Amino acid sequence: MGYLLGLDIGTSGVKALLVSPEGKIISSKTVSYPLTTPHPGWAEQSPYDWWEATVKVIKETVSDNPIDSNQIKGISLSGQMHSSVFLDEKMEVIRPAILWSDTRTSEQCKEIYARAGGLDQLIHYVSNPALEGFTAPKILWLKENEPENYKKVKHILLPKDYIRYKLTGELFTEVSDAAGTLLFEVIKKRWSTSLLEKLEITQDLLSPVLNSFDLAGRITKNIAEQTGLKFGTSVVAGGADNACGAVGSGIIQEGRVMVSIGSSGVVLAQTNNPQADQEGRIHLFNHACPDSWYMMGVTLSAGISYEWLQKKLFNNRLSYTKLDQLAEEIEPGSEGLIFLPYLYGERTPHNDANARGVYFGISGKHDQRHFTRSVLEGVAFALKDSLELIKDKGVKIKEIRAIGGGAKSRIWQQILADILGEEINLLNIEEGPAFGAALIAGVGVGVYDSFAEAVNRIIKVKKTIVPGIQNNEIYNQGYQLYKKLYYSLKENFKELKEMEMESNLYS
Ligand code: XUL
Repeated sequence: MGYLLGLDIGTSGVKALLVSPEGKIISSKTVSYPLTTPHPGWAEQSPYDWWEATVKVIKETVSDNPIDSNQIKGISLSGQMHSSVFLDEKMEVIRPAILWSDTRTSEQCKEIYARAGGLDQLIHYVSNPALEGFTAPKILWLKENEPENYKKVKHILLPKDYIRYKLTGELFTEVSDAAGTLLFEVIKKRWSTSLLEKLEITQDLLSPVLNSFDLAGRITKNIAEQTGLKFGTSVVAGGADNACGAVGSGIIQEGRVMVSIGSSGVVLAQTNNPQADQEGRIHLFNHACPDSWYMMGVTLSAGISYEWLQKKLFNNRLSYTKLDQLAEEIEPGSEGLIFLPYLYGERTPHNDANARGVYFGISGKHDQRHFTRSVLEGVAFALKDSLELIKDKGVKIKEIRAIGGGAKSRIWQQILADILGEEINLLNIEEGPAFGAALIAGVGVGVYDSFAEAVNRIIKVKKTIVPGIQNNEIYNQGYQLYKKLYYSLKENFKELKEMEMESNLYS
């Protein structure tokens, strides 16, 4: 008894993890779905695709393991943050979801600053700056660009909240995802009526906000029949993927930092003492544990950069293992080749949707091995940018834990340790946000007394990667140049964007 099901509604697919109370993975399955880019900088997905994939992955999970669905005591969900699901009065999806990685809303971000009364005032309301990826600018974009669609909107949901609604028939969000809408008073944990008023968004469009570990409904009869789950199984609210990833790697106490290399790259530090960054350089969001927050920096194209290299530059000819081997043949520093991983703009620290990827310093001696290694190094430099900001906020780092697909690569782990100049701990469980969602389900239904009990019982450090002093020195030099390159190119990125806008050559 007491098995837990964690679902993660990610950007590339939905993952279902069936977990025993001791944290043993009974089943792990993923069903993927497409992402569309109707214009440069746009990123959309169909919530119906998420739902179809969710039903499929649950069905497969339930039918294909030794555990009877009677023994699943709780289900919870994690999901990509910020992405907007617009529903009409019949609870039908009005248009594809605009995703966290979509950068169409630069104008709306400016508008939010103007309406809120500037950056200071916006941070005062919601503890975060206006970024293209967040939900509020997407709502304004819809209002201004698709007014017919906007008129139909009755509910605005986050991805995992939509899926939870489909499973239970109940409409809720919870603190960790509400935080990423830019409409939530992160410190006071309530919708910001002041900002909603200034943006002329009615609060009725948003759902009531629960704690991440609250019971949010039960599996309906219809869904039980469709999926094989037991009618009435408890569904716990769950959390944003970053909050869940943090729970799933034990980042629930001050001083622990998570570095995640997934599609995006994340550096996240838990805090009990929430303080917004007045310059908006780093995010402050609610954690999934009670009265807990985290500071977070995001580099938008972490795994995405490596995927780009593998798919577009190498045309799928080489596997990731082979690419790792190529990178290993080259010394730290890639003989002066530096990669800026800004393929889709950059979040932390630049908040600049115009930024683009750069290979800097190409010379005749560089070959595909350097091009590969410098991508791994460039992503690690971008993560260092976030870590430096977190240190700058006074966080005393006691331990860094790495998670995500990228953190499974031996060479990337070492590059990360060398560039950050810190020991990196790897964990016994590397299942990411879906695992955190399962633990949240366990706390919610009482399989665990607390988050601390769950984490201490299950999550262990398996290996420590130690930084090489010499490599760290080499990289510190490279990092100084890496940091300057963005500022040298900032205006050129803007020009490029203007060219893009004026010419359909770039569309
Ligand atoms: C966080 C963010 C991404 C998504 C990825 O602010 O935009 O990490 O949550 O799913």
